[in-house]
Amino acid sequence: MLAGKKILLVIAGGIAAFKSLDLIRRLREQGAEVTSVLTAAAEEFVTPLTVSVLTGNKVYRELFDLTDEREMGHIELSRAADLLVVAPATANLIGKMAGGLADDLASTLLMATDKPVLIAPAMNVRMWLHPATQRNVAQLRADGVHFSGPAEGEMACGEYGPGRMSEAHEIAEAVSEALADGPLKGKHIVITSGPTHEPIDPVRYIANRSSGAQGTALARSLMGLGASVTFVTGPATVPPPQGAKVVQVETAAQMHEAVFKALPADAAIFAAAVADWRVVAASGSKIKKDGTGKIAPLNFTENPDILAEVSSAPQRPGLVIGFAAETDDLLKHAEAKLARKGCDWIIANDVSPETGIMGGSENAVTILTAAGADALPRMSKDQVAQQLAARIAEALT
Ligand code: C5P
Repeated sequence: MLAGKKILLVIAGGIAAFKSLDLIRRLREQGAEVTSVLTAAAEEFVTPLTVSVLTGNKVYRELFDLTDEREMGHIELSRAADLLVVAPATANLIGKMAGGLADDLASTLLMATDKPVLIAPAMNVRMWLHPATQRNVAQLRADGVHFSGPAEGEMACGEYGPGRMSEAHEIAEAVSEALADGPLKGKHIVITSGPTHEPIDPVRYIANRSSGAQGTALARSLMGLGASVTFVTGPATVPPPQGAKVVQVETAAQMHEAVFKALPADAAIFAAAVADWRVVAASGSKIKKDGTGKIAPLNFTENPDILAEVSSAPQRPGLVIGFAAETDDLLKHAEAKLARKGCDWIIANDVSPETGIMGGSENAVTILTAAGADALPRMSKDQVAQQLAARIAEALT
């Protein structure tokens, strides 16, 4: 339910604008108050009168409107809402948001707001796939903008592919998710996830089989309880969680820097499978076969232990959680790790190949704390995430 929630809906100029009328109805049915802003191009697709009747509110259209500015300035308008929703979000408006442009009322509100933003992209498939749009989308994701869609399907222009705006009910669901309230509201949690890649030369690297699935599921569950999450991820195979502030890194050294930059936090969770070692001096050019049948030995040095360093740092979050992925003597190694790294909890899991856990969809974890060990049964990584998130919420509140 969205009772009492205030939503500022920006409608940009695309044929999908007609679906936004249904979106207004659905949001109001759930108890939300909707105020709308139309771009000049949007008025070619839906009329201000229709939108005003459906929202039951005044429709805002121009930046330099004296009456509007006297009644409610654009800064105030951008702050009065709990959430800004852009549907449809055109390639043009997405570009302006990514570039920080503010040349009309809609883009100015999006720059001026201090509230979360959810966008539902809608455009021709070629425009969506264009590298410029993809760059802009990546930037907005990194900025913590929430996305609904786009979906894949038949387009108004007759082409087929990704770029179709999500259906109104899907956007309404994304609105509920983005406004998730819960015991972790106001708490900032840093999560590391995925593998790291340690270069040998420009084309080769050392990596591991981590998919990033458990860290991503954990981020989603924590955000579902209201937490704001900074998600520092190596090159994972699963996409990063929507709505988190995503920082993409490649090496352990970059992850180390990104984690310290993300502090302070109320909790830090180290789900990444960080490479313990890196090549001392990665070659600047591709290493070639030299005809001897041998390769010059690689020299390794230990990577910084991010978990151990954060655990003893002056900015140490109140709750620091590490993972221990082991193939033998799980509990013995995990207990030793808890003591050695100086963290509060260790989530231990057996990643022997026969368990299928590394890269798989299930996990069986044991939570080790100063109070003892708590073994959870094998379940999906999503369920593990929910169980852990509930315990984290208990510990932080
Ligand atoms: O020492 P080991 O790699 O087994 O420890 C695992 C835990 O330590 C995980 O939580 C992992 O994310 C973290 N770690 C780290 N930096 C490293 C190595 C591990 O944060 N360089």
